Amino acid sequence: MFRKDIVASSPGKFILLGEHAVVYGKPAVALAINKRFLCRVQLGEIDALNGMPINPKIHPHISYILKTSGVTNVTIHTQSEIPSSSGLGSSAALCTSLSAAIRAIKGENIDVKDLANDAFNAEYEVQRGASPLDTSCSAFGKGIALNCPKSMGKYIWTAEKERNKWDIFEIPVPKMTFVVGYTGIKAHTGQLVERVRKYKKHNKFATDIVNEIGDVTFEGMDCISKYDVTGLGRAMTKSHKLLSILGVSCRELDKLVSASLKYSYGAKLTGSGGGGSMIALTDKPDKVCETIRLHGGMPFIIKTDVPGVTLE
Ligand code: MEV
Repeated sequence: MFRKDIVASSPGKFILLGEHAVVYGKPAVALAINKRFLCRVQLGEIDALNGMPINPKIHPHISYILKTSGVTNVTIHTQSEIPSSSGLGSSAALCTSLSAAIRAIKGENIDVKDLANDAFNAEYEVQRGASPLDTSCSAFGKGIALNCPKSMGKYIWTAEKERNKWDIFEIPVPKMTFVVGYTGIKAHTGQLVERVRKYKKHNKFATDIVNEIGDVTFEGMDCISKYDVTGLGRAMTKSHKLLSILGVSCRELDKLVSASLKYSYGAKLTGSGGGGSMIALTDKPDKVCETIRLHGGMPFIIKTDVPGVTLE
């Protein structure tokens, strides 16, 4: 039996440790945040998005998900609290909520692993290379770690692409305070992933940096397990330095990170970089917000431990 009108929503995320290196099978941690993407799907006469035709060049994720699902004549309405291209997982939240709504409209049983997989395939295709970190975090919510020590959490699923394999775990969300600083500059994940891929291909030094990001992520994971806020902050700042060397930071991110360090245990860019957002771990969130604002960023205090994809 086909259902005719479905609403699904999914959370955004921030990456605590491991972005970019995770694309090459290194460990990473992401936490879902209290900003959501909402997708309403109705069966209609033609395919439409917010009252306009769907253009595969402008809406590649949506086109890919519709094409692979085999569903046609759907009217999609979207509403998002997550700024697009902000490093906070808006495309992963779009992919998971749309996949949930499309599967529901087909009358299929919803298995969160299938949604995480649908969404990962869409991101992998559109970005021409991706890890399942953002999409798994958006589908499952709460806290997700990839290729972490088994003792860190509960195993949920494994994703594989070409030569890379990611074991995905649900982890207890650290009860710590995080502040996001959004630069307002659009980050182009696909281009940044491609830049790192080329750098790695032509320069052994880049492979060393990717390996070091992996090592620092393991250090940070150990600190999360021991509730060592100081150690975790140190790992975050080290990770930012390595990401800068990899060429994915920018002046605005570096400025917000160094300004926040005065009141934080650690700070780093989060997501693909090149703009987008940074994240600070702090017990002085108001001070960090003020300093981010003073240095030209848009701050907000993040709430974590939120649910993944939901259907109304
Ligand atoms: C983007 O949010 C995170 C990256 O590591 C890409 C990916 O994991 O697919 C840069």
